[in-house]
This record gives sequence, C-alpha cells and structure tokens, in this order.
Amino acid sequence: MPKRYKDITGDGGSNIAAQVSEQHARLRARLAEVRSIVAVVSGKGGVGKSSLTANLAACWALQGRRVGVLDADLNGPTMATMLGVRGRRLVVGAEGVVPPEGALGVRVMSMDLLLPSDDTPLVWEAPTQAESYTWRGAMEANALREFLADTAWGALDVLLLDLPPGTDRLATVASLLPVLSGTIVVTIPSDVAHLVVRKSITIAAQAKAPVLGLIENMAGLFPGPSGAELAREAGIRFLGAVPFDPALAAAADLGKPLVASAPKCEASRALFAIAATVDGALADVSASRPARG
Ligand SMILES: Nc1ncnc2c1ncn2[C@@H]1O[C@H](COP(=O)(O)OP(=O)(O)O)[C@@H](O)[C@H]1O
Ligand SMILES: [Mg+2]
Repeated sequence: MPKRYKDITGDGGSNIAAQVSEQHARLRARLAEVRSIVAVVSGKGGVGKSSLTANLAACWALQGRRVGVLDADLNGPTMATMLGVRGRRLVVGAEGVVPPEGALGVRVMSMDLLLPSDDTPLVWEAPTQAESYTWRGAMEANALREFLADTAWGALDVLLLDLPPGTDRLATVASLLPVLSGTIVVTIPSDVAHLVVRKSITIAAQAKAPVLGLIENMAGLFPGPSGAELAREAGIRFLGAVPFDPALAAAADLGKPLVASAPKCEASRALFAIAATVDGALADVSASRPARG
C-alpha cells in the first residue's frame, strides 16, 4: 500500500520531520529523470485547464514523447477520466506506485485512482472537523508531495501538472518541486475570467518558474475580450486560441483526447500548434537556465 497523507500528518509516533526530508530526497531523485515540468493554471475554474492538459499531453505523446500528468486537483480530479484510466487499479512496484498508462501511453496519477470509484468525496482528516479548514492547505501539500515522491514516473520528457482553480495553489506546488520549468495560464473570453486570470498571471510571474504563456480556450463561445490582448497587456506570450467545440468535451468524457480521435479538426489543429509553441518556449527557458545539478 502506498503511504497516505494521513499517515504522515497524523503522526502515530513516527518521526515526521525525518519522513518529510526523506520524501524530499526521493522526490528529487524521481524528478531528476523528468526533463520538463509544466503547471497548467488559472485562477478560474471551468475554463478548460484539465481539458487542455489532457490534449496537450496527447499531442506530445502522439509525437513519441514520454508524457506524465499529475492531477493536482485533489478535490475535483478529472484527469483519470479524461485520459481513460478511471477505475484502474494502482500497482505498487519495486520503484513505487506505477502510474497507469492512459490514452496514447500518457502516465496518469490522480486522487481519483485512490478513492473508491463511487462518488466518495475527499475528506481531510483533522483532530476535529472544526480544524479541517486550517489543516487542508498543509494536507494538500503533503498529499501532492507524496504523489510526486511515491509515483514511479520513470523517465519523462514532460510532466504536466493540472492545478485546481485558485490563485494560491501554484505557490504550494512550486514550493514542493526542485524545478518547475514553467506555467501555462488558461483563460476564456469573458470579462469575469480575465479579471481573475490577470491575478493568476501576476502570481505566476512571481513564482520561481517562468510564465510560458496564455491560452485562450472556448474561443468564439461568446463575444468577450481578446486573450491575445490580455497576454499583450500582461507582457506574456500568447500561445493561441482553442475554439469552443462540443466534440472536445465529448472526447474528454470518453477518455480519448480530441487531438487523437479527430486530429484534423480546427480545435485539434490549434492544440497541436500550441504544443509546438510551448516546446519553443520551453527550449528558450532551458537555454537561459544553467544545467541542473
Ligand atoms: N474548447 C472547449 N470546447 C467545448 N467544451 C470545452 C472546451 N474546453 C473545455 N470544455 C468543457 O468545459 C468543461 C470544463 O472544462 P475543464 O477542463 O474541466 O475545466 P477546468 O479544469 O478549468 O475546471 C468540461 O466539461 C469540458 O469538457
Ligand atoms: Mg480541472
């Protein structure tokens, strides 16, 4: 059995500090084999972070890259569904928990794989329920650290992190990682989304990782403000626009990313172009960073 978040937060006589530092070391060793780690963020929920994560992962996998996805949305995990591994049993190998391979061989780790496959929600255990609110942040961080440290990702070209909505989540995740190659910010063409996403861009810019750029999702759904304009104002790269396409949602529900099932449609073509632009942005980042030691 993999160790669970409560095993280290709930003590039980074990030496927590030593366990955490041992976990840090393990996490470092694991991630040394991962070339790029990219977080997909947005202050806003429902803008398509997860859908874009699944499709970008599939774009790269179709090109023969080794891709992993960590679903960092512990309370609303969707990656297992979108990449077709929901209900798959986790296998613990000599190296740790083996992430199941979903569509196109993308390796997926998600809280969804640890919970029973009914509608059981994740409940944060705390000494009393009244304390669960304050425990939550710490427990989320612990759970994510465990996911990163205990998952046998193997060698990966890219590990995508699908973050939950909320502007504070990126700092937590970034603090757990030895290196974060960059962040991708997602918005939709609405004033409300732009208001929130602007804040996420500010936070992403303050994180130790570079902002790779902004994606406008659901383009054309309503006549809202331009994502390209938002990127320009914020001084970040505009990665491209993905049109609103019900087929993209349907494909996600079936666990087969649209770029694999309908690679020629407009949304898929946009996604392939965005994946290539992100590649370019990552190459720029690694060229400007000293080699990892
Ligand atoms: N470009 C798009 N066209 C149509 N539906 C989309 C598109 N992008 C996302 N969706 C749908 O919108 C909903 C929210 O997307 P999701 O990826 O779960 O957002 P988030 O992870 O930001 O909360 C899902 O039902 C998804 O299938
Ligand atoms: Mg999501």
